[in-house]
Amino acid sequence: MATKLENLEEWRQSPPEAQPDPENTGHPIDGYRYFSQEFFHQEWEEMWTKVWILLGRESEIPEPGDYQMEEVGPESFIMVRQQDGSIKAFYNVCQHRAARLVFNDLDSVEAFICPYHGWRFELDGELTYARDAEDFPEGDPCGKMNLIEVPCETFAGFIWINMNEDCESLREYLGPVWDDWEAYGVDKWKRYQALTGEMPNNWKVIQDNFNESYHLPTVHPESDSTVEENYKYTQFDMFPEGHARMWMKSGVPSQLLDLKPGDELPEAMQMTLRAYGLDPEDFRDNPYGTREALQKAKRAYGESKGYDHYENLKDHQLTDTYHYTIFPSTAVSVWADGFHFLRSRPHPTDPTKCIFDNWWYASQPEGETAPVNTAAGQVPRDAEVDHEVFKYGEKSMGFAIDQDLAVTPGQQLGLRSRAFKGVYLSHQEWRIRRYHEVIDEYINGVRPGTKT
Ligand code: FES
Repeated sequence: MATKLENLEEWRQSPPEAQPDPENTGHPIDGYRYFSQEFFHQEWEEMWTKVWILLGRESEIPEPGDYQMEEVGPESFIMVRQQDGSIKAFYNVCQHRAARLVFNDLDSVEAFICPYHGWRFELDGELTYARDAEDFPEGDPCGKMNLIEVPCETFAGFIWINMNEDCESLREYLGPVWDDWEAYGVDKWKRYQALTGEMPNNWKVIQDNFNESYHLPTVHPESDSTVEENYKYTQFDMFPEGHARMWMKSGVPSQLLDLKPGDELPEAMQMTLRAYGLDPEDFRDNPYGTREALQKAKRAYGESKGYDHYENLKDHQLTDTYHYTIFPSTAVSVWADGFHFLRSRPHPTDPTKCIFDNWWYASQPEGETAPVNTAAGQVPRDAEVDHEVFKYGEKSMGFAIDQDLAVTPGQQLGLRSRAFKGVYLSHQEWRIRRYHEVIDEYINGVRPGTKT
């Protein structure tokens, strides 16, 4: 394989390495796993407590003492910036009698003071003050009953935690995803949308949806004008750790439109071309020649506007859509300048509900002043975005995501029906099967991809 240093042009044109399909067991995917309390409990104990979870954002806690609190299922975690600039993560639970220490999503403290009896935990989790410390028959709790720390790493500007103290490194866990994302420099990107809604469906219903593109022509019928949605031209990759990648060529009308020489390009395609100084009329005779022309135009545009990260991107990454599902519950669409983050978290107690996060990050080129295009519309580049939390239906999540979420509650109802005997999947939906098999592997005590 060509390297960037040996042959830049060849490297830029090299495609992402295709992965062979993993072996599937054909285990049925029935409705039980979407509503059963027993399965919900097994999944939590055997899977959720053993995987890396993308939970916070480094830029939210820039100074020592700044913390971010996030919940996953029945647990709550505090991620806090240390005096030396590193980040530690702790269960948000006092070791005296289990009170939650903090309830704000974001704040800054000198130390964590428990609201119940006033125990004081330093930023590194050490208990340094307990009133009447001499009165504890089992000994002074200070220095002993410290906060319980969990492994915590940072990557792509995000804070990841793992409840398994013997976990592998985050880099090992993410496998090829690490190198893919690193090229974009997402750690420097800024958030332009932060919407969180409680959904009336199991968290896996959301992830299943983002693990297939079979639904695109029906759920998103308007969206095939600048993306190649024909599955025959799409590359689907599944990785041993349970993650998946879908590569859709973009900046080109879909073959599903069956355009012929002389046909007018779809309006969205014309707008994309004009945005990079290209004339749609020049593609009358070759309507599927837009992608290569856009790649050249974007590289030139990027150089003139300070899009420094383009240096590390291959040509296809300048135009194409990459969609990742990071096991267990984060789905991400990545473009050259946009990172659409979609995460479902289990509800604390109810398997038929979940918490859904719909966030958007965009690159920060120095010379760019144009607004940012997010899933929910255009946003001024200097905008500060508040995190909004609401229940399903109270607020729009953006046009395309609203379309997805219009389907999932009804599917949850169907999954509970006696008439539903299990999914019947096309090959282009195979990532769903693999995903559920990885969950089963965890439940059966097998490390995914190893059979041990
Ligand atoms: Fe925290 Fe008592 S529960 S000090």
